[in-house]
Amino acid sequence: MHFGKTILGTITLLLLVLTTNAQVFRWDEAVIYQIYPRSFQDSDGDGIGDIKGITSRLDYLKGLGVDIIWLSPVYKSPMKDMGYDVSDYEAIDPVFGSMEDFEVLLKETHLRQMKLILDFVPNHTSDEHPWFKEARKSSDNPYHDYYLWRKDNTIPDNRISYFGGSAWEKNALTGEYYFHLFLKEQPDLNWDNPKVREEIYKALTFWLDKGVNGFRLDVIPLISKSPDYPANLRFKVTENAAYTRSLMPGPHLHEYLREMNERVFSRYDCFVLGEGIGINPQSVCDYVTPERKELNLIYHFEVTDLGRNALYIPSKVSPLALKRTLSRWDSVTAGCNARSAVLFGNHDQPRMLNRFGNPRKYRTLSAQMLAMLTLTYRGVPFIYQGDELGMRNIRLKYRELEDVSAINLVKIAGKYGIPRGLAMHFVNKAGRDNARTPVQWNPHKNAGFTEGEPWLKVHPDYPLINAEAQQNDTSSVLHFYKKLLILRRKYPCLRNGNLAETDKNHPRLLIYTRSNSDCNFLIICNLTSRKVKYSLPEIARNGKMILGNYPDVPDASRILPFECRIYECKK
Ligand code: NOJ
Repeated sequence: MHFGKTILGTITLLLLVLTTNAQVFRWDEAVIYQIYPRSFQDSDGDGIGDIKGITSRLDYLKGLGVDIIWLSPVYKSPMKDMGYDVSDYEAIDPVFGSMEDFEVLLKETHLRQMKLILDFVPNHTSDEHPWFKEARKSSDNPYHDYYLWRKDNTIPDNRISYFGGSAWEKNALTGEYYFHLFLKEQPDLNWDNPKVREEIYKALTFWLDKGVNGFRLDVIPLISKSPDYPANLRFKVTENAAYTRSLMPGPHLHEYLREMNERVFSRYDCFVLGEGIGINPQSVCDYVTPERKELNLIYHFEVTDLGRNALYIPSKVSPLALKRTLSRWDSVTAGCNARSAVLFGNHDQPRMLNRFGNPRKYRTLSAQMLAMLTLTYRGVPFIYQGDELGMRNIRLKYRELEDVSAINLVKIAGKYGIPRGLAMHFVNKAGRDNARTPVQWNPHKNAGFTEGEPWLKVHPDYPLINAEAQQNDTSSVLHFYKKLLILRRKYPCLRNGNLAETDKNHPRLLIYTRSNSDCNFLIICNLTSRKVKYSLPEIARNGKMILGNYPDVPDASRILPFECRIYECKK
């Protein structure tokens, strides 16, 4: 009897564990959709996207089939860097709505079985943050040591910030210089001060207690600074990347990441994504090896940097370079039992279609091929808003630019005698405003984004490219994304199967299998505008094509421009 009771008890416990486990956040099998709130949907006619606007579009996202929404910053901010300059980590900026609006968004997201992660900016605050306002008053102010000051009040000669100009700014009230890796309005926090770390943990906890499902941590590899920053560095404009590398990882970076994990993330069922500025295949495992208990996932820039250099000078992406980069990151992360991030664009990049596809002649086909690659390659896929519609780069005039980094770049280019026309040519190809134009919802006024005057120009192609038109067209880019997302949900091996690439040196085709014990798929992507002679491998000939982006029966001996196919093959 007693024995029977024990068995029953064990079974109940097992069931409980199983059901609880079933609810554990499977971020590793999820698809992430990034929202840049300013440009997603305006609800009040002020021309700026807001939280209520996002809530009104949740059914669209659910219909698309994504799992996690990554929300770029909505905190209180003077918006010098569009919200990445935070003046209150625990408040919503009125331009985006109220805390109540945010709570509704969170609740409605969860009701639709999606998760929401917040973009959090731990490396710097706004210069209008109360901590900095205090810190700059005097060197004995209790907040002074929240920031980084040059003690001897001299400006080092090798100083540059990401957005151009000196990384040191003089504080008139004390005569000291403070350090800022980004704008002068974004002073870097002093992570070596335990009080700063406490404040950050408190803010992160505030949001987790509200029910958010995790964070994307902005420029996380930069939080711990080398003691000699930036001394001993000879900086030329073209050495931006070298500069970043030499700054990191600071000696305490991983210690702080582990501390943050222990103090905050380990206490919640949450997902933490890092923005891996400056990371490389040799260092990625230090961040994401599960046993190290730091971050869950980190995205890098080696794919997105293929199409431009640090000076925004665009270059043609070589398919072989793309293949090798994807494969290198896939294998290192698999080697440390982690996941890699499959990301071709975000709010800091020009549109992925312009760099990896052909936005004019093969707009739909190449956008669909990129969708297949994003959603079937091994790793956690990211969709940046509007890419699921095949949105493209815009051409802006200098006075229409909104992105501070582009504006500064044109100014600096001017100082070096580079004609404005040429600088604008680079900015139009590689600038961040390209990804920030309002989402094109329908063919009506301002693409359905706002009733008012949009903060950034709407792309003039919206009568052709918009969500409403694509919802009604089964051959559209949007439908292709939906079909792929359905396949991912249906077949576990597209989410977690092994990846094996064949024809690794093929200069145009990317071919790989995804397989596990009960399924096997072959995926073929033509990365170019040329048709390619190729004889299908036997597994494909014996298998069944379940999705492709050309309407005609597939040719067994040729792969057409930007053609992509998935074959379900026998095991
Ligand atoms: C990375 C963010 O993605 C970018 O938009 C921002 O300008 C910088 N970090 C500074 O916060």
